[in-house]
Amino acid sequence: MNYRVTLLPGDGIGPEVTKAAVDVMKFIANKFDVDIQTTEELMGGCSYEKHGTPLTDETLQACYDSDAVFLGAVGGYKWDSLPHRLKPEAALLKLRKSLGLFANIRPAKVYSAFVNSSSLKSEIINNTDFIVFRELTGGIYFGEPRGMDENKGWNTMVYSREEVIRIARMAFLTARRRNKVVTNVDKANVLEVSQFWRNVVEEVSKDYPDVELRHMYVDNAAMQIVRNPKQFDVIVTGNIFGDIISDIAGMITGSLGMLPSASLGKDYALYEPVHGSAPDIAGKNIANPIAAITSVAMMFEHTFEMDKAAELIYSAVSKTLGNGYRTADIGKETDKIVSTDEMTKLIKDEIENIYNEQAIGVFTL
Ligand code: IPM
Ligand code: MN
Repeated sequence: MNYRVTLLPGDGIGPEVTKAAVDVMKFIANKFDVDIQTTEELMGGCSYEKHGTPLTDETLQACYDSDAVFLGAVGGYKWDSLPHRLKPEAALLKLRKSLGLFANIRPAKVYSAFVNSSSLKSEIINNTDFIVFRELTGGIYFGEPRGMDENKGWNTMVYSREEVIRIARMAFLTARRRNKVVTNVDKANVLEVSQFWRNVVEEVSKDYPDVELRHMYVDNAAMQIVRNPKQFDVIVTGNIFGDIISDIAGMITGSLGMLPSASLGKDYALYEPVHGSAPDIAGKNIANPIAAITSVAMMFEHTFEMDKAAELIYSAVSKTLGNGYRTADIGKETDKIVSTDEMTKLIKDEIENIYNEQAIGVFTL
């Protein structure tokens, strides 16, 4: 098979973690005999510096022409005072909207090696494994009217039936392959838009009688995630609630530096680590590449439909962490501290080991 992947390394640590991710992507592609061509484009602050805009038409076109997009990270203090439309964040929102990436998937899974790094007690966090499905191209992020003048500022939270149906279906389909519980998170006790959202999710749930549907108000959900995260399997929610909930979910797993994400639409897909551009540690070869590397695992799973390849990456990451290796950002004195490049190499070595063990296993069968 031949695939084209557009790389948007972006700003700060983005280029370093992208390099690590591509390294693993090509290594795996080679093993599984698929051909992945990559092209690199500017996006974010780096694009603003060169072209005066954080997202050019050329970059957007390159994304339209590819099977998947990989994004490192965008943004930095340097561009914080620019007008809204020139900020790196505006480019990200435009990219999501233009590619129709309505479903943002953020898994909150605790690696056993990380149970003691969480801000929660180990007995609360161990074995936590849930996924947040965040609606990504609607809601208050994009609703009209929006604006501000000297006396007020305003935004509009609006959802159409179609927008709710498509994200809800994805959540139910995923729950069906997992523990069969969808928790819908909204604010239906106050907002009409949430009452409407909830009604539509209820309608959709009728097509998935094997999956249990629960409802939770967003403030309670925030509390429940830190109280008893094991109660969740799949969470489905709107854009702004999902933004907030997925940061909470990410943090309790030990480090945002560990978490991948996928943003999927009908025709396109974008993969990016959940963490930001961390400009303070950029260029030092100390950033943690694991979220970027596991974002590549999500790419193999969702775009290339190569679950085996994805599992191989996840297992290699778990094994490497289990062996005590950490990048400096998440390491303690007792850990074996390694650089970004070394961590990437260790993960590739583990991929090789596990791959060979599996090959021997198949052979002896
Ligand atoms: C995220 C980020 C973005 C968002 C920002 C950078 C626009 O926080 O991906 O969660 O709010 O969606
Ligand atoms: Mn966010």
